[in-house]
Amino acid sequence: MRFARLDRLLQRLWQRLQQTLQQTLQQTLWQRLWPRLWQRLWQMLQMRRLRRGIVLLGLLGAAILGALLWQRWQLTPLALPTQAEILITSSQNEPIQPIPLQVALDANKVHLGEKLFADSRLSADDRVSCLSCHRLDQGGADRQVRSLGAHGIPTQVNTPTVFNVAYNFWFSWNGKFETLEAQIEALAKSVMGMPWEQIVSKLQQLPDYVQSFGVLYTDGITLPNVIDAIAIYQRSLITPNSRFDQFLRGDYTALTVEEKEGYRLFKSYGCVSCHQGINVGGNLLQKFGEIGDYFVDRGNITPADYGRYQVTGSENDRFVFRVPSLRNVEITPPYFHDGSAKTLEDAIAIMAKYQLGHSLSPQHIRRIERFLNTLTGETPRSAS
Ligand code: HEC
Ligand code: HEC
Repeated sequence: MRFARLDRLLQRLWQRLQQTLQQTLQQTLWQRLWPRLWQRLWQMLQMRRLRRGIVLLGLLGAAILGALLWQRWQLTPLALPTQAEILITSSQNEPIQPIPLQVALDANKVHLGEKLFADSRLSADDRVSCLSCHRLDQGGADRQVRSLGAHGIPTQVNTPTVFNVAYNFWFSWNGKFETLEAQIEALAKSVMGMPWEQIVSKLQQLPDYVQSFGVLYTDGITLPNVIDAIAIYQRSLITPNSRFDQFLRGDYTALTVEEKEGYRLFKSYGCVSCHQGINVGGNLLQKFGEIGDYFVDRGNITPADYGRYQVTGSENDRFVFRVPSLRNVEITPPYFHDGSAKTLEDAIAIMAKYQLGHSLSPQHIRRIERFLNTLTGETPRSAS
């Protein structure tokens, strides 16, 4: 009983408290404070400076919102096409062909060539071998912007890969040579520090070479035979069976949808007009900077940047280069003859800009990169 009364009393008290609270709130906020605030705001709005400020603030807000939306658009994946939309029916119709799974070469000469390739006695200071710059565990190159040859002299250009050179039609960045043998013959003086004639006389003093050349070549150690053995070994350095090649051979599950979309973009943007054939390059000479002036933008132009002009002296050939192979490009940074692009993304963006006049979204760059990564094949095993 007593509790019930107390309860009622408390309830009434609580109601009363609520009422007064509500009333005071209404009076102060709605009847006094709000009209005053509103009036003040209205007065402020009459002032020109403030109005301008508000307009500016609005514009700034809109810009920030726009930027945020743009970034979101860049980051959210666009719908990928369906498998059926990018299905490729036969590699016969594709601009890129797979690397043969095997090549028929004289195994003994491959072996001899391999030994020469790794032998630092072929250099003037006995410190540099072909392998120092063209490493089998680094995609056939050395991941340096410039490499150091005999006597520590740096190369003028970035070291290209020796993998799959059998499928190139032009050699050197500037396309100076049309055969592998001519390319190898020209290299000695610049990177090994002495002309081939001297290297050959050095080899003639080494009994192990006298013996193995004697078995394989009727005329023993001669310049053409040394070059021949090295060239045969170079031709054995192929990287078959990349995922992209498996795809070209009809295994449509070898690539993810994103990688296939990257390949589609690679074709539709027109990269494939220059990078094509078995090596996804290696068979054309093209200007670097078809659309924009890459060299002016980069600055610091050296004679090596003149490209094929150095070979022909013709003005039309200035800044013309051999289109490099994109096989294993994933594992051979840095990129370009000047080694200026540190990442594949950078190289793709530069290519799109200066060869095709496109500014690619990060998303398209990423997809093309994913496709290029599928060109990494099996690393050649050592012949020994
Ligand atoms: C000091 C580093 C270095 C050494 C050592 C070296 N190379 Fe190279 N190699 C290069 C550079 C740099 C180029 C590019 C030259 C150019 O384009 O002017 C190149 C290019 C090549 C190419 C042409 C690739 C192409 O697709 O055009 C072949 C093949 C090659 N080297 C084989 C060899 C052989 C064989 C040896 C040993 C006799 C050798 N290299 C030693 C740095 C080196
Ligand atoms: C007009 C011909 C042409 C077109 C189109 C073209 N490229 Fe190239 N690409 C070249 C040439 C030439 C080079 C060598 C540049 C140099 O001298 O360093 C090259 C170099 C590259 C390299 C560096 C390779 C290396 O080992 O250093 C990559 C990666 C590349 N291109 C990707 C692409 C992509 C992706 C596209 C399409 C967006 C494309 N290219 C379009 C001609 C072309």
